[in-house]
Amino acid sequence: MPTTFTLNTGTQIPWLGFGTGTALYSKDASQLVRQAIDAGVNHLDGAQMYNNEETLGTGIKQSGKPRAELFITTKLNGKVLQPGQTIKDTLQVSLQKLGLEYVDLFLIHDPTPATKQSNETLIDWWKQMEGVYADGLAKAIGVSNFKVSDLEIILPGAKVIPAANQIELHPYVWQEAEPIVRLCHEKGIVVESYGGLSPIVRVPGGPLDPTLETIRQRLAKDHGQPVSAGQVLTKWLSAKKAVVVTTTSKVERIKEFQDLPKIPDLTLEEVKQIEESGAELHKRSYMGHVFQ
Ligand SMILES: NC(=O)c1ccc[n+]([C@@H]2O[C@H](COP(=O)([O-])OP(=O)(O)OC[C@H]3O[C@@H](n4cnc5c(N)ncnc54)[C@H](OP(=O)(O)O)[C@@H]3O)[C@@H](O)[C@H]2O)c1
Repeated sequence: MPTTFTLNTGTQIPWLGFGTGTALYSKDASQLVRQAIDAGVNHLDGAQMYNNEETLGTGIKQSGKPRAELFITTKLNGKVLQPGQTIKDTLQVSLQKLGLEYVDLFLIHDPTPATKQSNETLIDWWKQMEGVYADGLAKAIGVSNFKVSDLEIILPGAKVIPAANQIELHPYVWQEAEPIVRLCHEKGIVVESYGGLSPIVRVPGGPLDPTLETIRQRLAKDHGQPVSAGQVLTKWLSAKKAVVVTTTSKVERIKEFQDLPKIPDLTLEEVKQIEESGAELHKRSYMGHVFQ
């Protein structure tokens, strides 16, 4: 499995990102960010909406890790854009909070505050994103929670193609996600997954469980060491060529992710089995805009 993906800017995004939303939403993330960086994670995923960018910045600073060795993402909270305020204004506030001169990736977190107004508003947002990219405040720009129709609004007039689309991705949303992933790959847009552990964390006891268990046992046997159901799910995300954005309070869990490249990959048959079992239940955990 690849340990980095190449963005359309030519730079590399590490396959594993540590997120400061969900469990850390509106909380001080500094300790866990520091823990993740100390454990060797070099990709951090933040957002204006998470209301903790200062603490992401503190964790980064306390780690002592050179800036150039880290990949930092933040995301536009379009819900709070005020009339007369630009996207650049909001990114400058984020950079100040983070204590950084630039982010490696800046994403539109959610297209709906724009599309509720008009398609033209979303087109204007993307133009503004191209502006912050040209200014060097973001080394790459992208989107999040964009379904096919959202991408189709911005792509025809885009001077810069989004570098990434961060979406909820796991087998219980795969049928609806597949067209988004296909379009992204056709356009050279890297897919970033979040909520990838949902089948075991948020929807346990579903139709996928027996399939995960069978594959987990096969991988443990071939690897000669224990393999977890979470690792099987993450292998599936990797088979879908997705960056994995996760979070954890536990160093052991970070290690589980980092061990993944050493574990054998899923066979094509196993990938198919996971998708077939996943198709028996449709269950999203996050933005209802993207999936029913
Ligand atoms: N763009 C967006 O709209 C969007 C939306 C949601 C999330 N995100 C990003 O993605 C990041 C990760 O999201 P996520 O939390 O949904 O990721 P996830 O990888 O699906 O879940 C991680 C959570 O699952 C728990 N966990 C892991 N293994 C477990 C197990 N075996 N049993 C019970 N709990 C387990 C972890 O807790 P422990 O502390 O116990 O390990 C952690 O809180 C966020 O922080 C954010 O940066 C983005």
